[in-house]
Amino acid sequence: MIETNPNEIVIVKSETSKIGSVDFDNLIFGRVFTDHMFVCDYEDGKWQTPQIMPYQAMTIEPSARVFHYGQAVFEGMKAYKDDDGRIFLFRPDQNFNRINKSAARLAIPEFRKDFFFEGLEKLLKLDSDWIKPGVGNSMYIRPFVIATEPAISASPAMSYRFMIILSPAKAYYNEPVRVLFAEKYSRSADGGVGFAKAAGNYAAQFYPTSLAQKKGFQQIIWTDANTHEYLEEAGTMNIFFRVNDTLITAPNNDRILDGVTRKSVISLAKDLGIECEVRRVSVKEIKAAAIDGSLKEIFGAGTAAVISPVSAFEHAEEVYELEQLDNSYASLFKEKLMNIQHNISEDPHGWRYEV
Ligand code: COI
Repeated sequence: MIETNPNEIVIVKSETSKIGSVDFDNLIFGRVFTDHMFVCDYEDGKWQTPQIMPYQAMTIEPSARVFHYGQAVFEGMKAYKDDDGRIFLFRPDQNFNRINKSAARLAIPEFRKDFFFEGLEKLLKLDSDWIKPGVGNSMYIRPFVIATEPAISASPAMSYRFMIILSPAKAYYNEPVRVLFAEKYSRSADGGVGFAKAAGNYAAQFYPTSLAQKKGFQQIIWTDANTHEYLEEAGTMNIFFRVNDTLITAPNNDRILDGVTRKSVISLAKDLGIECEVRRVSVKEIKAAAIDGSLKEIFGAGTAAVISPVSAFEHAEEVYELEQLDNSYASLFKEKLMNIQHNISEDPHGWRYEV
């Protein structure tokens, strides 16, 4: 059935649903996708009529620039359902602004705000049965843009595809993570694309992360590329250190992703009267704090990861184990965030956005 609506989004509904085959209690992050997807092509200098269509494989020429030069950016967002069946997004304006900031850095044309919000809301409503209520359940939303022009000269493409796909999700990390502090490899450099959600930023981490995994560490905490002396971010999440009762996190710069969960934690800390220092944080300082016992916690903050505690870190072949506290800041922030996201608590900052 084809419907054209006043907002011009063409909607082609799937005739069957895969939902009956999904085990919602045992989801592995990012493996299952809903029945529909949003697609909008950029041709002839403008974004064309957007479409929502059944989730399906697509045909792209092998010469498309995305395959050769990695001209691609993405976002990570989540939708939540409360017990009354109402659906909420969390600070979606932040993701919209960020994907356009990432796009600008990769010479990709900005996407239209009306298409983004109307497309996303219609898609979520169409696949709303896939969004399960209850804290711990969410719908992970992956908007992304790829360069589709079939041409392999090394220059920005003339055509692009903007898409949104949806994946029901539970926790990204089920257990506290063990991390390595980077000593050799780097994630990003001054003047580079570290602040952007550029696809290549993630691919570049896979090899060093696989080496870390062989040593029993799930993630790397990236350090500054010049000196490897300052701790920056974990690649799938920003990172916070609690020294005594003070939180410390690295400031945003052109190497670090401007995380939505990160900035929400900083605001919540302020609300709770927890001191939060946004400043450079050195490996030396954190190792000294681990040795003298003032390092109480390390945790990551990100959309997929929410708040993920770190149970140990390694640097210079020495492993530092962190005791998991009963009343940790990590669990406090996680609860506060999830209660706002799931419409359980007040939303003093107006972060919820009802779909
Ligand atoms: C997110 O948290 O949305 C991310 O983009 C991290 C991703 C690697 C799963």
